Amino acid sequence: MKIKNICCIGAGYVGGPTMAVIALKCPNIKVTVVDVNFKKISAWNGPLSNLPVYEPGLKEVIEKTRNINLFFSNEVDKAINESEMIFIAVNTPTKTEGEGAGKAADLKYIEQCAENIAKVATDDKIVVEKSTLPVRTAEKIKEILDKNDKGVQFEILSNPEFLAEGTAIEDLFKSDRVLIGGSKTDRGQKAIQDLVDIYSNWVPKEKILTTNVWSSELAKLASNAMLAQRISSINSLSALCEKTGADIDELSKAIGMDHRIGPKFLKTSVGFGGSCFQKDILNLVYLCEYYGLKEVAEFWHQVIKINDYQKNRFAEKIISYFDGNITGKKILLLGWAFKANTNDSRESPSIYIAKKLYDQGAIIKVFDPKVSEERIYSDLKEHYKPNKKLDKSRLIVEDSIELSDQEAIAILTEWDHFKDIKYPKGSIIFDGRRIIKNSNVNFKIGS
Ligand code: UDX
Ligand code: UDX
Repeated sequence: MKIKNICCIGAGYVGGPTMAVIALKCPNIKVTVVDVNFKKISAWNGPLSNLPVYEPGLKEVIEKTRNINLFFSNEVDKAINESEMIFIAVNTPTKTEGEGAGKAADLKYIEQCAENIAKVATDDKIVVEKSTLPVRTAEKIKEILDKNDKGVQFEILSNPEFLAEGTAIEDLFKSDRVLIGGSKTDRGQKAIQDLVDIYSNWVPKEKILTTNVWSSELAKLASNAMLAQRISSINSLSALCEKTGADIDELSKAIGMDHRIGPKFLKTSVGFGGSCFQKDILNLVYLCEYYGLKEVAEFWHQVIKINDYQKNRFAEKIISYFDGNITGKKILLLGWAFKANTNDSRESPSIYIAKKLYDQGAIIKVFDPKVSEERIYSDLKEHYKPNKKLDKSRLIVEDSIELSDQEAIAILTEWDHFKDIKYPKGSIIFDGRRIIKNSNVNFKIGS
């Protein structure tokens, strides 16, 4: 089948940029991105300066494609019906209740999408899992889809996304690999080919990897786990550097020059954040436990434990600088996003650090160039009981950097312009990203 119409359910960080790039590279395909969130869709259809996702290069792609062959809409059923291929890119948070709570991925949105596709589809569809899912989710989706009573045939593919936020567009243009998992049947192989044909418009053939569905699903979890494991490894060594006088950047460089290890993902930090690493590892841990692989589960769980240790260690450094009493101390947090060049703050280490300092009585000021005030408050509120009111006189979000009366500055995100600030003489600085070059830093993680 030559695919002419694609839809994607979920206009988030993954669905939005991925579909925009497909639309740009495949001008003959009509791409419709749908979402149940009205506000989000109207923002995707609104001014380019205020798209719901901030990614370098994204607005240029949207400008070239929007309302030409890329459409954003709330009409989910209509888009499903019009499309031969449906991507599912809805969120899969960690379960908060029931079996596997705290670890397993909550598949309720995925299941709702599948139920909806089964209900409204009147002709054959290829359904593509874009969201990161536990191994064997495709089986569950297929079960739900097969409840369709109109004789419609569904083929399920797994096509996990490997883009990193902040470089999403670049990553989509120049993917290291595109992974497509499908069944070994003739129909499965045909569906795989249909998706290969789409990516072949810009991705070299040798970078398109086809596998069985389970390998593809697991490869995504495993890739994220391996990346996060490198960060926890280096962060664990940062603690040892601080004790021994070794310098973590020098250590990373020396380690990374071994071509078998390589230099990437060896940068120490206040801990990793983002919507994927923690969730995917917990999911992997849950899977291992489910299959009785206790030692394997423990191995991966340790990656999360070291990450929690690193966030806590950093906050403790600030507290102990003030001899354990930070009540009323004004602390300026520079950066809220989980990394630079994104407005995303999901699982950002800043949330944990701010909460810890706030709980101990500090006056927190926060500045981030891209994360909104509303978002910062809602990130923190999520960590308290629903009726808890945050004291806004102790939690102040700034819209510019005011270096005046703070008693300490903590750098939590590596935004470029934090590097060039002229920090007043005598400032007490805790650098959690090692971006300040001058030596007047009171604490630099890893040395
Ligand atoms: C990502 C990935 O897709 C997934 O692999 C990862 O596991 C979590 O997050 P992302 O694009 O970052 O998703 O999530 P988000 O920005 O929250 O976007 C998901 C969108 O799906 C939201 O806009 C939400 O409104 C929408 N959605 C959710 C639906 O349209 N329908 C639903 O039933 C549920
Ligand atoms: C990650 C994966 O990289 C990507 O392939 C997958 O599709 C989604 O999850 P993302 O979370 O967007 O992408 O960003 P990433 O660049 O991986 O950074 C994750 C976190 O690790 C950030 O908090 C970042 O600051 C931190 N990090 C990264 C480090 O602390 N040190 C490093 O060396 C690299």
